[in-house]
Amino acid sequence: MPRNPIIGTEKMEQAGFYPLTVRSVVPETADAASLVFDTPADDVFDYRAGQYLTLRLQIAGRPVLRCYSMSSAPVAGEPLAITVKRVAGGVVSNWLIDHVRPGDRILARPPSGTFVLAPEPRPLLLFAGGSGITPVFAILRQALAGDGPAIRFFYASQSPEAEIFRTALDRVQAAHADRLTLHRHYDSRDGHPDMARLADFAVGTGDAIAESAIAYVCGPAPFMNNVEAALAQVGLDPARIHSERFVMPAPEAVPALGDAASLTIAIDCGVGIRQISCRADQTILAAALDQRLPVPWSCGQGICGACIAELTAGSVAMPQSDLLTAEERKDGLILLCQARPRGPDCRVRLV
Ligand code: FES
Repeated sequence: MPRNPIIGTEKMEQAGFYPLTVRSVVPETADAASLVFDTPADDVFDYRAGQYLTLRLQIAGRPVLRCYSMSSAPVAGEPLAITVKRVAGGVVSNWLIDHVRPGDRILARPPSGTFVLAPEPRPLLLFAGGSGITPVFAILRQALAGDGPAIRFFYASQSPEAEIFRTALDRVQAAHADRLTLHRHYDSRDGHPDMARLADFAVGTGDAIAESAIAYVCGPAPFMNNVEAALAQVGLDPARIHSERFVMPAPEAVPALGDAASLTIAIDCGVGIRQISCRADQTILAAALDQRLPVPWSCGQGICGACIAELTAGSVAMPQSDLLTAEERKDGLILLCQARPRGPDCRVRLV
């Protein structure tokens, strides 16, 4: 029996989520682990190296969505796996590492994403920083599965101990020494990878690689920014630079309130009712923050679940509410970061 059976599976399948059973949890470093899944027998979870899964988890009573790249590569005949690294203050990655065990079932949407190997055989420049190795490692093995041009791979980690897939990379490097140039950069030894170093690596030893290569880049934002700038400096066509960023955009700008278009919303904060004004084109979250009402929120884009509240009267429109099931929406749950009032007399209760 799974340790944490999932309730409402059928409904979640209708919402595009499927339960995946965790086959094993493989420690990769002191703060990173791979979750290996059993997938349904049909082709719903077929994927290409470099794609990602969207997981729907229930943490502290709230649903959250997170995207994780697959570290497995279909060509290697491995079961589907993601690799997760602990993040200081990170809610979801830390929860996965601390709580998920073999036999658990996790809801996931089928794989998606366009960070995949291009069909044309060109030299490859791969750049990965930290846990950004996950899709890059999959792409690397996909590329090495067939004959093809040279691959130059710059992999930055904090230290040798923090290097994810260290042993597996040793094996890959030994097996493909004729095609693969792997440079391991350790911040603890080499300092931060600056643009000059990255550009030198891209240019290589006179390969004129920038004229024809395709680059794949994944890692922390400052690392990716440096890589992209370095590749631009060596003349790589921007159309041949593929970057994978799971960005949390800032919440929408708060527009000025216009008296004529304003609607009044009553918000039950648990210790009293506060009335706020909200324009029809403004989210309730934006209006509340603008009027200094401390409501909970985090991502601002409908994926973390921090802003879930209950609409007890009135109606709202939500352009993005995939996080909530149809039943939860029917029960009146809304995302404050997405909900815009559709008429007067909205009442909201913080939960
Ligand atoms: S879902 Fe994250 S703040 Fe609304």
